[in-house]
Amino acid sequence: MPQQMQRDYKELIEEHILDFLPDIDHKSITLYESMKYSLTAGGKRIRPMLLLAASEFAGGKLAEAVPYACAIEYIHTYSLIHDDLPAMDDDQLRRGRPTNHIVYGDAMAILAGDGLQSAAFEAMSKDMFLYFDNGDKLKKRIRAANEIVKGSGCRGMVAGQVADIESEDRACSGEMLDYIHLTKTAALIVAAIRAGAQLGGADEEMLSSLTIYAENLGLAFQIADDILDVIGSEEEMGKKTGMDMVKKKSTYPALYGLEASKKKLMELTGNAIEALASYYDNAEFFVKLAEDLAVRGK
Ligand code: IPE
Ligand code: IPE
Ligand code: MG
Ligand code: MG
Ligand code: MG
Repeated sequence: MPQQMQRDYKELIEEHILDFLPDIDHKSITLYESMKYSLTAGGKRIRPMLLLAASEFAGGKLAEAVPYACAIEYIHTYSLIHDDLPAMDDDQLRRGRPTNHIVYGDAMAILAGDGLQSAAFEAMSKDMFLYFDNGDKLKKRIRAANEIVKGSGCRGMVAGQVADIESEDRACSGEMLDYIHLTKTAALIVAAIRAGAQLGGADEEMLSSLTIYAENLGLAFQIADDILDVIGSEEEMGKKTGMDMVKKKSTYPALYGLEASKKKLMELTGNAIEALASYYDNAEFFVKLAEDLAVRGK
């Protein structure tokens, strides 16, 4: 199945990103406004793009993956709203705009994150109801939702955020640093790709190749983010840079230095691309995305 361009996947996501917010009672309009504010602030949409691409790669229908693609972007956006709170990274700029809590206050930002998380589960479970009488399609959807739940939860992103906070101000081993990056960031990226693959009906071999790609890309993604926090500009990143050092975060550049971090980014990118080598030109989207990421962190 030939893959679309990044632009095509992104357009589809932008078109549907608000479709799965529950109808809000007029009395909770502030909640709706604050969720919408962060969802439409202009993220790169990497995770939903990967989910759509993996689904298509495995032979699924693109339109059928949209609820799951939006669900993972809702969960990612909630993680960013909470990540920016004063009790966590205490950031004032995100996606080129004031962070959610700066505009709506801490309490509403916490609740907007909570609301986005449950909206994600509502989007997926509502979709499952449509396939109640189709055992095969229902199983694919349950598998996809399970990937997303696992990646975002207490052994995935949330666990990583806990380890990230607990490792502030402390010397951290290489093993611990990889645990932080693999959970707080790679887990959702792996979830996006595996959920898409499950929706498309990937066989074990494809699922395993995509998982190796995803794990390498996921770790590379957080290393690139760490590098860009040192060498990137606020304008390019849409968030304040240089903050990891101020907050004494455990990062790749802090532990290994900038040059070794860049080398590791290149190595992981190579591993990711290599994992899909047997799929040749059919994996063009995945190869290009990994290469673009490596170029950003160079
Ligand atoms: C930011 O993720 C948080 C990290 C895991 C590094 P993205 O870089 O994907 O942020 P958006 O969605 O484009 O804003
Ligand atoms: C965030 O890592 C990972 C999340 C789960 C949100 P960072 O704290 O490095 O992300 P940024 O730099 O604020 O986007
Ligand atoms: Mg953080
Ligand atoms: Mg942060
Ligand atoms: Mg960062």
